[in-house]
Amino acid sequence: MLIDGKPYRTIWVAEDGVTVRVLDQAVLPHEVKVLDLADLESAAVAITTMRVRGAPLIGATAAYGVALAMRADPTDAGLEAAVARLTKTRPTAVNLRWALERMQKALANQPRERRVALAMEEAARICDEDVAICEAIGAHGLKLIEAVAAQKPGETVNILTHCNAGWLATIDQGTATAPIYAAQAKGIPLHVWVDETRPRNQGAALTAFELLQQQVPHTVVVDNAGGHLMQHGKVDLCIVGTDRTTATGDVCNKIGTYLKALAAKDNGVPFYVALPSTTIDWTIRDGVSEVPIEERAAEEVTVMSGRTADGRIESVRITPEGSPAANFAFDVTPARLVSGLITERGVAEASPEGLRRLFPDAP
Ligand code: MRU
Repeated sequence: MLIDGKPYRTIWVAEDGVTVRVLDQAVLPHEVKVLDLADLESAAVAITTMRVRGAPLIGATAAYGVALAMRADPTDAGLEAAVARLTKTRPTAVNLRWALERMQKALANQPRERRVALAMEEAARICDEDVAICEAIGAHGLKLIEAVAAQKPGETVNILTHCNAGWLATIDQGTATAPIYAAQAKGIPLHVWVDETRPRNQGAALTAFELLQQQVPHTVVVDNAGGHLMQHGKVDLCIVGTDRTTATGDVCNKIGTYLKALAAKDNGVPFYVALPSTTIDWTIRDGVSEVPIEERAAEEVTVMSGRTADGRIESVRITPEGSPAANFAFDVTPARLVSGLITERGVAEASPEGLRRLFPDAP
């Protein structure tokens, strides 16, 4: 996608063929900064500190993290240690485990001297596949937007999204945003309600940034506005992402997604979840009890940062000193609240049968 008219992916390899580069999402939207990942530790820290974030991008960064680790130690022990280190970075997005297992498989029984090259190739393949998957999600999701547009000819289609399941969360295009970009390319009049997504403000900082860059009309709203907007007919459909989808169609996504799904149900607003099949965890069936929910530092809730009028980035405390805060990063939306799962193979009903029909070859 474009930043100031220049096409970017979120992760790429520098001209030296060695350094992995990412866009530093901790400083967006105030600064566009490229971060070099030179070794395993810098990749792991970039994931933990959310300089890269979003389920598919976490997986891709971990894949490159393994490749960087192979430069330092291409032995089996080195591979195991790299996988163990990266596994610990973030607990909820299953793409992390998926990508690490794939890297292990690609490198197992390979001679040490070939491991760096093979790992770089496999990581690049993971990225390219993700781009193709998002493209396909866009094509399938477009049909849903076209159907809404057909019911209100000439009028704007209003879509609500939560967090950032955009190109910044993937390699390119995004999942929830791919249908939006596809609809924009078709000339469908669109407007996106962007939930700010406290506490880290991925909506206000990242989704707004990318929609602005792609010139998609949008409005940032506080997280609590969704129910009101839906009651007043201002949302035609919701499209969100997911970090882990159970085999039964429950989806675990950024905290607050569940409340949006409840409001959508109460107001008859279709609630779609866009996902690459790499976020499906076929080993679990009950999202609420089985998905590990990341709990992050209380300071992300008690302290907010932003840019001052004279351009400085400042942090300010918004709660009384001494008030404890809790920071659950994700919640689970049960399948019964999901209108459909937009995957690279089509739109599945959010049910075990619906997912199986599209993925009969899954484990
Ligand atoms: O904590 P984050 O910013 O990594 O959470 C991201 C999300 O919740 C996204 O909606 C999800 O990863 C889907 S990304 C296509």
